[in-house]
Amino acid sequence: MSGPLVLAIETSCDETGIALVEGGRRILSNVVASQVALHAPTGGIVPEVAARAHLRWIVPVLDEAWDAAGVAWDDIDAVAVTYGPGLAGSLLVGINFAKALAYVHRKPLVGVNHLEGHVYAAWLLDPGEAEREEPAFPLVALVVSGGHTFLVEMRDHLTYRLLGQTVDDAAGEAFDKVGRLLGLGYPGGPAIMAAAAGATGPVVAFPRAWLGDGYDFSFSGLKTAARRTIAAARAEEGLRPDDPDGRLSDATTAALAHGFQESVVDVLATKTIRAAEATGARSIVMGGGVAANRVLRDRIAGQAAERGLPLVIPRPGLCTDNGAMIGAAGGRRFDAGARMGFELDARPSLPLATPG
Ligand code: KG4
Ligand code: ZN
Repeated sequence: MSGPLVLAIETSCDETGIALVEGGRRILSNVVASQVALHAPTGGIVPEVAARAHLRWIVPVLDEAWDAAGVAWDDIDAVAVTYGPGLAGSLLVGINFAKALAYVHRKPLVGVNHLEGHVYAAWLLDPGEAEREEPAFPLVALVVSGGHTFLVEMRDHLTYRLLGQTVDDAAGEAFDKVGRLLGLGYPGGPAIMAAAAGATGPVVAFPRAWLGDGYDFSFSGLKTAARRTIAAARAEEGLRPDDPDGRLSDATTAALAHGFQESVVDVLATKTIRAAEATGARSIVMGGGVAANRVLRDRIAGQAAERGLPLVIPRPGLCTDNGAMIGAAGGRRFDAGARMGFELDARPSLPLATPG
């Protein structure tokens, strides 16, 4: 393997991730310190708590990633860091750390868009993993995370045409909110997936927002429907509306989780496949935390296979936030000549692509 060796840093949200990635593809090491346990008691992320946790963990995470990769500073071609979108305080911890490393070791600094990282996770190879073909262009990429849900067309590396995006909530946000309504804790996505797997009874139907034939998404109506359905189920089981200690029976929780998940998966899979066909895509890639969902993965894989469309979905640990995906995008950006000055600042609302 050749190509630049990048030290990559990700602190945009609630995972402190540092990785060493070669050629935008081969992971040498990838360490993630998750703050899930820290944010569970509040049922969501408190920005200042997240920023302080990055500050606490960033050096130990670097030490572990560095030791696992067995590299020397002479080998490093660039330091890449997420500079947006994300929580300002969290981003600043990673950016400042990256600047210090780049300055002291005289390395180029490459700023990476977190969303581009989710896309480029599809190019990653684990240590020891056999080589495989890269996703072929033109392709369609679906990014589904806690903060974003969109479809883009890529006709080549690092270029994006926005096909559609959510007009309200992100898919992951809907999972998290409905998880909370079901008393399943934070984050809701993995908890809903686990609960839904236990569903055996009749399917509870939830609405789907198709928004016509385009590629935009909407999940706020689904969330409202879920709130209403969950309230009705609680009344039926004799539970008070907001009693945190009174949880629905496992069977009802499973049925509701299943119905909700089906609605999200159906819309995401259908629109992604439709977009791939309409644009003449030669492959599909997927990324972001919600792409860790097994039902979504299987649904899209089945529909893509039926049409002979190659599909790449990174393993679940590379779908959720991590440093390796920043190393993948950072390596490509470095090759394309991207260099940031030390004035690099956090861009909490940085977009990947604008409509066009
Ligand atoms: O990409 P990510 O780690 O962080 C952001 O950039 O937002 O995505 C986090 C989101 C959360 O909303 C979480 O509930 C969701 O991804 N998620 C899942 C699953 N694992 C994580 N959603 C559905 N099913 C999962 N298995
Ligand atoms: Zn993310």
